[in-house]
Amino acid sequence: AVLTQDELKKIAAYKAVEYVESNMVIGLGTGSTAKHAVDRIGELLLQGKLKSIIGIPTSKKTHEQALSLGIPLSDLNSYPVVDLAIDGADEVDPSLNLVKGRGGSLLREKMVEGACKKFIVIVDESKLVDHLGGSGFAIPVEIVPFCWKFTAAGLMKLFDDIGCRAELRTCPEKNGKPFVTDNGNYIVNLYFQHDIGDLKAASDAILRLPGVVEHGMFLDMATTVIVAGELGVTIKNK
Ligand code: A5P
Repeated sequence: AVLTQDELKKIAAYKAVEYVESNMVIGLGTGSTAKHAVDRIGELLLQGKLKSIIGIPTSKKTHEQALSLGIPLSDLNSYPVVDLAIDGADEVDPSLNLVKGRGGSLLREKMVEGACKKFIVIVDESKLVDHLGGSGFAIPVEIVPFCWKFTAAGLMKLFDDIGCRAELRTCPEKNGKPFVTDNGNYIVNLYFQHDIGDLKAASDAILRLPGVVEHGMFLDMATTVIVAGELGVTIKNK
């Protein structure tokens, strides 16, 4: 039988949770794939197969989910070093660079996942790409709401040569009001006409722009990517 995308996400998530050991501090990701991993950690705790875990959630939503499962929680103030984080991604390139944040949680994800010794990314095979931000998909950037149009224009100007459109993320369910992140900021989605090329240079340029808080390119952060496909699970290590 053909597996649904959600079943593939669950397979990747369960595989990643095999890396979780008792007494670890675990970064808990956000999104429909990471949700399965958090559920599974809760289940293993309940069964007594995992003990003394501390979860560091990457969003308010994951915080709520983990609380409801009885996973003990803390934050980076108390645990500046995280043993292992597990999270989904929107895109994964052949060097294991990622696009994240289409769920809007990129800032907390980048803080937590930047603080971990091991970062396992879980995806179904539809997330594999040759180049980040290709095929008309967005790279999200979290910006402060203050004069956001000015910042959005500045972002487009940075990438004039390759053609870049910046679009404010809005909520259709709230009459098109701006989407507001857990940190009270806005998100602009960047759409590129041509290949970004040097990702590190693009990242640096975006981060230098006043008004920008963080962007969704996670470069050189993933240590392992677990890909679930129709033909089975593939594990890619850095
Ligand atoms: C949340 O902001 C994102 O970074 C998610 O981790 C990413 O969008 C993957 O989400 P799905 O697992 O729902 O595809």
